[in-house]
Amino acid sequence: MTHVRSGSAPRERTKALCSSLLLCAASVAVASGGACSSAPGEGGDDSGSPSAGGAALTSSTVSSSASVTTGSGASASTTGNVSTTGTATSTATASGGTSTTAGTSTSTTTSTGTTTGGGAGGGSGWDGCDEFVPPSDCTIPEGLVLPGELRCTGLYSNWDERTLRCGVTAYAPAYELWSDGAAKQRYVWLPPESTIDVSNPDDWDYPVGTRFWKEFYVGPEGNQKLGETRFLVRAEAGWLYTAYVWNEAGTEANQINEGVEDLFGSGHSVPSREQCKTCHNGREEFILGWDFIMLGPGATGVTAQNLADAGQFGEFDPAYLNPAIPGDAVEQAALSYLHANCGVSCHNTTLDATALPSGLYLRLELAALDSVLSTGAAAGINQVPGSNAMFSDLPDQPPEGYYDFRPLDPDRSLVLARMTFRGSETAMPPIGTHVAHQAGVDMVRAWIESMTEERGYPAAAE
Ligand code: HEC
Repeated sequence: MTHVRSGSAPRERTKALCSSLLLCAASVAVASGGACSSAPGEGGDDSGSPSAGGAALTSSTVSSSASVTTGSGASASTTGNVSTTGTATSTATASGGTSTTAGTSTSTTTSTGTTTGGGAGGGSGWDGCDEFVPPSDCTIPEGLVLPGELRCTGLYSNWDERTLRCGVTAYAPAYELWSDGAAKQRYVWLPPESTIDVSNPDDWDYPVGTRFWKEFYVGPEGNQKLGETRFLVRAEAGWLYTAYVWNEAGTEANQINEGVEDLFGSGHSVPSREQCKTCHNGREEFILGWDFIMLGPGATGVTAQNLADAGQFGEFDPAYLNPAIPGDAVEQAALSYLHANCGVSCHNTTLDATALPSGLYLRLELAALDSVLSTGAAAGINQVPGSNAMFSDLPDQPPEGYYDFRPLDPDRSLVLARMTFRGSETAMPPIGTHVAHQAGVDMVRAWIESMTEERGYPAAAE
């Protein structure tokens, strides 16, 4: 806690925060003979070698005005950026304390037992944050551009105590991706005095230096433990990303880019870097869990409102702060579930989105929220599945064939059949899950069963 000053502390400009962390780490690596010039295992593009590498992660300066409070409720007039309040923020819960219709596991998980600083009622601001200096033995393995160990990425200021670095904020989006019941905790660090370009309100562009981490707590409910911490950092050349996999004792987390099957015998698979792209390429700007819907009402820790209040958006339409997902409760639940679980990643019209050829676009776009029928998901009603759609190994196939959604007919709705199925690439999603999500299946089934003509839906196609 010593690294946090109160909000009344003098606002001198601290020297560049170590958003140049990787630069710091890189110099360590260079000094020790490591290389950061090429990155076959990492990097935001296919060449894997953003010449920028660590060196692109130049520093930012400190703001003196903006303010963001966090989801813990305690008000903290922070200065300069998203900041944590004085409460424990690293206990992982699946939903960040609010219920989500996307329905992740609600099991609680092992706390990493850390707190963030910040005096009660006072602010912990950027200008109160000490520079993060990676431990002197941090290195970047040869051929990679990110540090070999999680402790070198700037998440924690004190590894042994797992103290979150000043300025790192825990958050949970309003709707979450199902990961077989794994509880998750997410963190963000935004460079001080930076703004997020939201001129495309469906695909935000982040300042260089932005970092996100996402922890997965795996294993049987009630006895979950931290298995992996995924990491994304915005370099000049694009996003760098990897997964740090914990040892069973919870004492170390090391970079692994090839994936791990059945981590700790929990059934959870750590994705490979290739798989990160399969989902994260669904946005030009790689970040899937931040948009006006995901950070709208229901989000905790960081919300779009917080970011707006802190002046951290470029120009935007304030109406976006309260995006109304159309429909009644059944429709809203299905649409938001499909947005988070299918739409932000693969099923959208981004050029590199994995499911672009499917013709089924399940992302909620701000310009198309007038009514349920104006959404991309509703365009899938009575739509014949794309010619590449897989369903040959589905059990109980209807002889009359499938539509993406067929009103009042769950059995002939391919989206539902594939969401329910597991065991091959026919499953939806095809990666990241081995167990169907009953709550999600129920939401989509309820929607299909509510598609009556009286309510404005088209009659089922034959
Ligand atoms: C099955 C699809 C999928 C795969 C594979 C995947 N992610 Fe994600 N990831 C998501 C979605 C969807 C979100 C946002 C929703 C959420 O967090 O529940 C997300 C969120 C994140 C976040 C928080 C910031 C953000 O984008 O919202 C990080 C960090 C992250 N992922 C890192 C990774 C890394 C690194 C890998 C590969 C090792 C990876 N992910 C693999 C789908 C995926």
